[in-house]
Amino acid sequence: MGGSSVQFLLTLILLFLLCMRPTIANYLGLGDTHLGCKEHERQALLKIKQDLIDDYGLLSSWSSNQDCCMWSGLRCSNQTGHVIMLNLNASSFRSWPLRGKLNPSLFELKYLTYLDVSFNDFNQSQIPKIIGSLSNLRHLDLYDANFGRNIPFQLGNLSNLQYLNLGWNNFNIPENIEWLPQLSSLEYLCMSTVNLSKVNNWLHVVNKLPYLTSLYLSSCNLPNIFSVPLVNSSTSLDGLDLSYNSLTSSSSVLEWLFNSNTSIVALDLSYNRFQGLIPDGFSKINSLAKLYFYKNEFEGGIPKSFGGMCNLKILSLSLNNLSGQLLEFFQNLTGCANHSIQSLNFDWNQIMGSLPDITTFPSLRILRLHSNHLKGIVPESLGKQSNLETLYLSNNSLEGVISEAHFSNLTKLKHLALPHTLVFNFSFDWVPPFQLDEISLGSCQLGPRFPTWLRTQKYYSWIDISNSRISDIISNSDWIFSRQVEYMNLSFNQISGQIPNLSLEFTSYPIIDLSSNKLEGGIPQFLFESAYLDVSKNMLSGPISALCEVQNGNLNFLVLSNNRLSGQIPDSCWMHLEGLQVLNLANNHFHGKIPSSVGFLHRIVSLDLDNNNFSGELPSSLNNCKELIFLNLGYNALVGQIPIWLGTSYPNLIILILRSNHFNGSVPIHLCHLEHLQVLDLALNQISGCIPKCLNNLSALTKKDSPDAAIIHSSLETIGIMEYVFSYIDHLFFMWKGKEHEYKNILGLLKSIDLSSNNLTGRIPGEVVELVGLVSLNLSRNRLTGQITSEIGMLQSLDALDLSKNQLSSGIPSSLSHIDRLSVLDLSNNNLSGKIPTGPQLDTFNASSYEGNPNLCGAPLPKKCSGEEIAQNPAMNGSREHAGMQDEKEGFISMGFYVSVALGFIAGFWGVVGTLVLNMSLRVAFFRFLNDFKDRLYVAISVNMARVQRQLQN
Ligand SMILES: *[C@@H]1O[C@H](CO)[C@@H](O)[C@H](O)[C@H]1NC(C)=O
Ligand SMILES: *[C@@H]1O[C@H](CO)[C@@H](O)[C@H](O)[C@H]1NC(C)=O
Ligand SMILES: *[C@@H]1O[C@H](CO)[C@@H](O)[C@H](O)[C@H]1NC(C)=O
Ligand SMILES: *[C@@H]1O[C@H](CO)[C@@H](O)[C@H](O)[C@H]1NC(C)=O
Ligand SMILES: *[C@@H]1O[C@H](CO)[C@@H](O)[C@H](O)[C@H]1NC(C)=O
Repeated sequence: MGGSSVQFLLTLILLFLLCMRPTIANYLGLGDTHLGCKEHERQALLKIKQDLIDDYGLLSSWSSNQDCCMWSGLRCSNQTGHVIMLNLNASSFRSWPLRGKLNPSLFELKYLTYLDVSFNDFNQSQIPKIIGSLSNLRHLDLYDANFGRNIPFQLGNLSNLQYLNLGWNNFNIPENIEWLPQLSSLEYLCMSTVNLSKVNNWLHVVNKLPYLTSLYLSSCNLPNIFSVPLVNSSTSLDGLDLSYNSLTSSSSVLEWLFNSNTSIVALDLSYNRFQGLIPDGFSKINSLAKLYFYKNEFEGGIPKSFGGMCNLKILSLSLNNLSGQLLEFFQNLTGCANHSIQSLNFDWNQIMGSLPDITTFPSLRILRLHSNHLKGIVPESLGKQSNLETLYLSNNSLEGVISEAHFSNLTKLKHLALPHTLVFNFSFDWVPPFQLDEISLGSCQLGPRFPTWLRTQKYYSWIDISNSRISDIISNSDWIFSRQVEYMNLSFNQISGQIPNLSLEFTSYPIIDLSSNKLEGGIPQFLFESAYLDVSKNMLSGPISALCEVQNGNLNFLVLSNNRLSGQIPDSCWMHLEGLQVLNLANNHFHGKIPSSVGFLHRIVSLDLDNNNFSGELPSSLNNCKELIFLNLGYNALVGQIPIWLGTSYPNLIILILRSNHFNGSVPIHLCHLEHLQVLDLALNQISGCIPKCLNNLSALTKKDSPDAAIIHSSLETIGIMEYVFSYIDHLFFMWKGKEHEYKNILGLLKSIDLSSNNLTGRIPGEVVELVGLVSLNLSRNRLTGQITSEIGMLQSLDALDLSKNQLSSGIPSSLSHIDRLSVLDLSNNNLSGKIPTGPQLDTFNASSYEGNPNLCGAPLPKKCSGEEIAQNPAMNGSREHAGMQDEKEGFISMGFYVSVALGFIAGFWGVVGTLVLNMSLRVAFFRFLNDFKDRLYVAISVNMARVQRQLQN
């Protein structure tokens, strides 16, 4: 599986590739025969078929009573009748039409010159060694076929091989690749994702292949090379891909490139760790047309010599540390390169200055300057770049007016991203000369009406006009919902009115974010035909019956929180939404039972029904939701005992909130099975009995540091033609006495138990001191008795401890003073006695932490300790003289720790970070879970709508 997805972590964001679904129709079947096929070859092919699971019936023509030269994927020689070509490639990604293993009777096909089984699933089996005996092979393609184990060295016997593709499988780490130089005819070699970390001489080895023209060693963990191979210093390479390794400037790779007499046309060094200035040497490679350096650590500008690169078409330098004046970048490219250059990508650098006149770059199609430090105005001459298709200027500080003149001749413009610092000045009836595919104008000043020019754009698939001060009415704006939209973000505006009830069918399953507006009325059905829908923080009302009509297994995220939605949710409502992973109905007015169809949501990881009026018992079908990580049912009217299965059904549960319901009975000991649990909030119920002793089995709470302080949960989704991954990335704020604390390293660090305001009795189990990761412990407002364990000081991570309003007796353990982080302490209204211990941290608390314990004495209480007072007295009723102070603490107690999830948009435009070499167009939207007042939990979604292609030269 992993073999066909590129996956890397970029700051907080997980990016994932999305690949197009294959068109099975592309599956090749070519029969061509005059002579009829040989019986032993036919038998061999049937054996091969036997070992394959053919879900799509693609080998249905392979039957025993037919001339095998007519079978699909086969070609026989028109002279000898032998099978010379076997092509089972699925021509595309992520289809794996065939599964199983490759039968060794393949060796009967001795005359094969062409063998392609790429994009199938061989279940990590080994490539049959016998393949080495197919000495006529010239073309061997095993790309992305999930082969595993060792690469057989017998491949070295294929001395006629011109094309070898082993990329994107799951091979063991090879010790060496000494078999490779025997393939002396090799022209094309792809070993991407083969882990070559042990092959220190990889460059020497590939350098021994005299006819090699294309070399792909992407994501190979290549070790740095510190000596240049001794060779005739001439290579025939014209395409070289060394991306996604960790090569540094101290490696000799560049030296080798500059000193060999190469005619490389396309060079990809992206995602490495090259530092310092971009070396001059590249400009000596006259043939270079495509140069990809994105995501390295290059500094400074571009060498002046680059201006002499007369063939340079594509220069991609995004995600580096480049600085200097933009004007100078263009000057340094002037000479020859300015005439040939078609694509310049400087996204995510620190380039300064204003946008110069670039009419001296007449061929420019793509200009990307997103996220730099540009200032000044945009020259009107931009409007003359009639070849421009992509213009990304967003996330800069460009100023001044942008008007029709800037676009006068940009008839080919398809992708436009502008910074919010520009002042938009288009006449009311402007009809732009372009039809955009991507509109990224988040935070720009577009309002108060939807701009009329926008209405002329009929074919966009990507629109971000979030936070653009639009206060228009959506009811008259049907046009905004384009059929082919894949991503739509209108959040953080003042858009009002009812969402029109269109009978629109999206061409794919889009991501739609209409959150934080003033939308009213119901949610029309067509919106639910999306992959991701966030309409939170509006004034939407009424029941969500339209949702129950929908059968959309591709709906992954549904966030309806903070509206005025109401009504009962029909029992069967969620039956057809089996793809849901995040469901957030928090802060609405739903009532009635939680529908038992919740059990159909077997993929759900986050369920938030917080603050509604759900009643009745928890449906037992909820225990089908085995993937739950986050479960918040707080502030409802749920009744019954806390079910035992809550502790046994959710191996991954991290957050469990049942706060403020009518749960009764005791705390089931089964909750102690939740080994990942970090937040347990059962406060404000009617739970009785003792606190279970087994709390120390909550192993996540017994660890101070979580190894993965950042909790990231991700999964790969296929939605129609797209695949994307979503992941939770922890980020959490919480309010404490009116102050917002931020846990940067996040959820991993938020560890809390809140059992306050129940009817718990008995002692606080001593085992609680083993929960050394606890940041907050709130057991207040129960009927707990006994003493505070003297080892309480072991809870070194505690930030807040509230044991108030119980019947705890005896002295306050002096070990409490060892908890340096303690910033909230409340022991008031118990029967504690004796002298209050002192210590640097304890001395910061005032009397309110201790009052209501008549037998306590010493600072900060006014009562002085005498000899007799230290001697412990029998429990007495706590005084109630400080009622006023208690009310003040109410806020704290009801606040507790409280987590709830809502989705919101954080940084809609990420732009295309992908590589052009691989022709990936990564589109990343970064979403966050956002709660209105307490805390936030972020989610990243990344979307890539293009597929990876392997050709360096288009
Ligand atoms: C046989 O095939 C070769 C190439 O596949 C082709 O050039 C030739 O014309 C064919 N001969 C006949 C008789 O079809
Ligand atoms: C699959 O086969 C087609 C047609 O033979 C070819 O163009 C394509 O490059 C092959 N794909 C791969 C991944 O080898
Ligand atoms: C322009 O080229 C000169 C000479 O190579 C170099 O010193 C300077 O840093 C370059 N400036 C930019 C912005 O590329
Ligand atoms: C617009 O572009 C066309 C060719 O694409 C050219 O003929 C025309 O002169 C240009 N107009 C302006 C104002 O640059
Ligand atoms: C608390 O429990 C006691 C019995 O242990 C019971 O009498 C009392 O009613 C309970 N209080 C509440 C509020 O449930």
